[in-house]
Amino acid sequence: MTKITHQTPDASKVDIKENISSNSSDNQAFTDVARSYLSRRKMVGGTLIGATAGFLAPAALAHDDERRRWRKRRKHPYGSRRNLVGFEPVSIEQAAVDQTMPTISEDYEYQVLIPWGTPIEPGATEEYTGDPNTRPTAKQAALQIGIGHDGMWFFPIDQDLGQKFNPYGYEMSNRKGMLCINHEFGTNNHVLGKPAPECLEDVRLSQNVHGVAVVAIAKEYYEWQVVKSKNSRRITANSPVCFSGPAAASPLLQNPNGNVALGTVNNCGSGPTPWGTYLTCEENFNGYFGATEGETFDDRRTEEQLRYGFDWNGFNYGWEFFDKRFDLSDEDYINESNRFGWVVEIDPFDASQTPVKRTAMGRFKHEAVAIKSSDAGQAVAYMGDDQRGDYCYKYVSARPWKEARADGESPLDEGTLYVARFDEDGTGEWLALDITTNSDLAARFTDQAELLIYTRIAADILGATKMDRPEWTAIGKEGEVYWTLTNNDRKDQGQGEQNAANPEFENTDGHIIRMDDGDGSGNTFQWDLYLLASSTRGTPGVFTDPDAAYADEEGRLFIGTDGGQPDGLQDQLVVFDTSKSTPDPQRLLVGVVSDEITGFTHTPDRRTAFVNVQHPGNGSPEATNFPASFDGTTIPRDATLVITNKRRGVIGS
Ligand code: FEO
Ligand code: CA
Ligand code: CA
Ligand code: CA
Repeated sequence: MTKITHQTPDASKVDIKENISSNSSDNQAFTDVARSYLSRRKMVGGTLIGATAGFLAPAALAHDDERRRWRKRRKHPYGSRRNLVGFEPVSIEQAAVDQTMPTISEDYEYQVLIPWGTPIEPGATEEYTGDPNTRPTAKQAALQIGIGHDGMWFFPIDQDLGQKFNPYGYEMSNRKGMLCINHEFGTNNHVLGKPAPECLEDVRLSQNVHGVAVVAIAKEYYEWQVVKSKNSRRITANSPVCFSGPAAASPLLQNPNGNVALGTVNNCGSGPTPWGTYLTCEENFNGYFGATEGETFDDRRTEEQLRYGFDWNGFNYGWEFFDKRFDLSDEDYINESNRFGWVVEIDPFDASQTPVKRTAMGRFKHEAVAIKSSDAGQAVAYMGDDQRGDYCYKYVSARPWKEARADGESPLDEGTLYVARFDEDGTGEWLALDITTNSDLAARFTDQAELLIYTRIAADILGATKMDRPEWTAIGKEGEVYWTLTNNDRKDQGQGEQNAANPEFENTDGHIIRMDDGDGSGNTFQWDLYLLASSTRGTPGVFTDPDAAYADEEGRLFIGTDGGQPDGLQDQLVVFDTSKSTPDPQRLLVGVVSDEITGFTHTPDRRTAFVNVQHPGNGSPEATNFPASFDGTTIPRDATLVITNKRRGVIGS
């Protein structure tokens, strides 16, 4: 048997390692700039936070046509008009009572749905319920809900039936649909019950709990449950996938041995398209690769491998010992790693569709994606690259998306990818990652395909602004864009930098940037610091490490956190009323010990929301046995919480 030399992978180590900066470019040292920026902001607004009244110009901002029509017909159909965010928040004391189970606002209730191991594919019956003495087989896992629940979206059944998708018109759309859900990661200890795989079957199990699930769910009587559907499916690290867009035919996506493209991994955040498909984002893909040759591999890494953070032992998954695809030192699979790091499009209503990796949207550690339509109808996608010192991107389709689709083309195959430069005066520029318009890019890359495969290097060349780990994006009521920057406390080690848009040194708590990008089609923007999370310390609404983000059409902003929270809190879901001049987070939910709260979606009427509890207890049954009540032995399982307001109001009211 192959000797495994890997160290024990524990979740905290994985988390640290995945965020280490690999950006050694010397873009914009802004230390002095940040100080002058901060003092100017304080002067202008009196206080940094909330200095933004009048910043957004609603008339100039885009609305999605459909949204505008619905709003005209029925303003605030179910919500309380008086208080956009009116629920009783969870107090710090309430959240401390029992951290083995979630704590929700007393105005709300939750139900647990689809924990890891729930059978979903047609014909699947085996269920994994957290027995510490066993694990699912690899084959069973490929027919079950995976682990590491993260980004997701609910696609109402009406869409599949061809009825006009209307959030208030059809009752059925609020009771039945396809839930697409990302399975970001599960450590070997959690999934296999041991630190390293010992055979190919172990690797296949690990691979099969990763990926995406598309699962039919329905509310029957009072409970949501999994229902049978020919459209339910699992997409794993071994499912067939294909490439489209400018880099699809690049030799850099082919291997000497000619193996077909398979799989998606580390599916972190996500986003729906305006045309009704699901986009899943591949984040820390580098961690699944290793080199069986050992440490010496690191000395001969290419510039590109270094920039994307590959090294000989990855995140200690050990896949490379039994599956050559993931062995960086195997010359037969020299370009396999280039096949990951993409945005992948999935049709929720066609299980026979091959997931498509959209190369025009660039290759980086894609966190999530939020799309709006420009005034001319182009698809505008906002995307973060989550690493210390990495960048904010947007993609703008060349044609109006409806026109492209009418011609049988994807709006995500032809367009321009940009990276953001944030200037100290509150403006910014979108720099086009286009080989035809920049001689430095033309000098570095053979063609646009190579540029897209090594997007990060192209962005370095253009002088993008280094950020404190860009996570999710959310599009607000007026078309404004919220960017969560989760944290960065390694600036003293040269990872990232202090600049106007990332002013804290060290930034242990993270922040949220608000951007006015007009209708999204231009190449300049305005931005402001919506909130420094450190400013919430000592207040009842304290939270840090903003990560998952979603904004509803009435002006509520939902933020899920990922990181050690102050005051004994666990990770949480907080809600903002963005119409208030001073951000005022209200705590809707607190998760269980050592988990992360992530993903957010809802039924069309917004009276039912879905939120994920990821890596409860970091997989340790001694910490929590969620969703089981505490017994100290049952393996905790990632799961989705279905959240409803007891007064039947919209979520967040
Ligand atoms: Fe998967 Fe950046 O969180
Ligand atoms: Ca995240
Ligand atoms: Ca995170
Ligand atoms: Ca995570």
